[in-house]
Amino acid sequence: MADNIGNKAAHDYHLDVPAAQEGFFVKGASHCDFGMKSRLARIFNPRSGNTVMLAFDHGYIMGPTAGLERIDLVIPPLIPHVDVLMGTRGIFRSCIPPAARVAKCVRMTYDSTVLFDDMSNGGGFACDLENALRTDADCVAVQTFIGAPGESRSLELLCRTADAATRYGVPTLGVVAVGKDMERTERFFLLATRVLAENGANIVKSYYCDGFERVAASCPVPIVIAGGKKLPELDALEMAYKAIRDGAHGVDMGRNIFQSDCPAGMAQAIGKVVHEGYTPKQAFEVYEEVKNSK
Ligand code: R5P
Repeated sequence: MADNIGNKAAHDYHLDVPAAQEGFFVKGASHCDFGMKSRLARIFNPRSGNTVMLAFDHGYIMGPTAGLERIDLVIPPLIPHVDVLMGTRGIFRSCIPPAARVAKCVRMTYDSTVLFDDMSNGGGFACDLENALRTDADCVAVQTFIGAPGESRSLELLCRTADAATRYGVPTLGVVAVGKDMERTERFFLLATRVLAENGANIVKSYYCDGFERVAASCPVPIVIAGGKKLPELDALEMAYKAIRDGAHGVDMGRNIFQSDCPAGMAQAIGKVVHEGYTPKQAFEVYEEVKNSK
């Protein structure tokens, strides 16, 4: 588009002014109706305003990922320590106890598997809303590929999902993908998170970056951060701490929990950072305490 040259750069993020909120605690949701608010209040803890989402959908492109070889054994023990489970409908049906009292985020789209060099072609629908609701979804997730060949297709999937889900008061989680050739800069995340919110996402999943406070301020809905590849536990806690400090409303973390040598300890430590403002060091002590008690 010709208009992308010569524009004034965005610069005034009013970092000292909290987002406008009228009568409801989840960012951007004050004007939503009852069902949407009720589900958002199952996802975000009304006391802290934040959420710990446990992502274990990696098998949809990667097959049996390290730590998720046996989801039926690994994930159920972590349920008491998180607010939301994020997975595919196939795994919810086969591996998660239906009686578990936890919110559920169901992945709605598929992408190419890791057998292909470029996975960012935009994929397609893996699940329709009826099936997601039969899986008891409190939230539905769509992966998007901003700045990659799959951009247009994935935005279409996001918009169609948000249309259908809004009809039933189900929030849509827009996921910012970072492919191997995609930028991981403030500039990229500013654009990608805002594009997803403008196209209907009620929650955006993105990555922590330098300048994250501007990314969070200019995104009109809550951002939760992905963990990415496994880090040493203290580093992962540090990343979560900085993200919350800089305006994230939680994490949607996978490998840094289920690939830890003590997943239950890490889930609890992350919860302390996200909900109770623990410092990374304090939270690391929680992780070690749980680990040493095993
Ligand atoms: C992306 O949406 C993936 O499906 C994962 O859910 C996501 O990357 C979060 O997992 P991790 O913290 O392991 O990056």
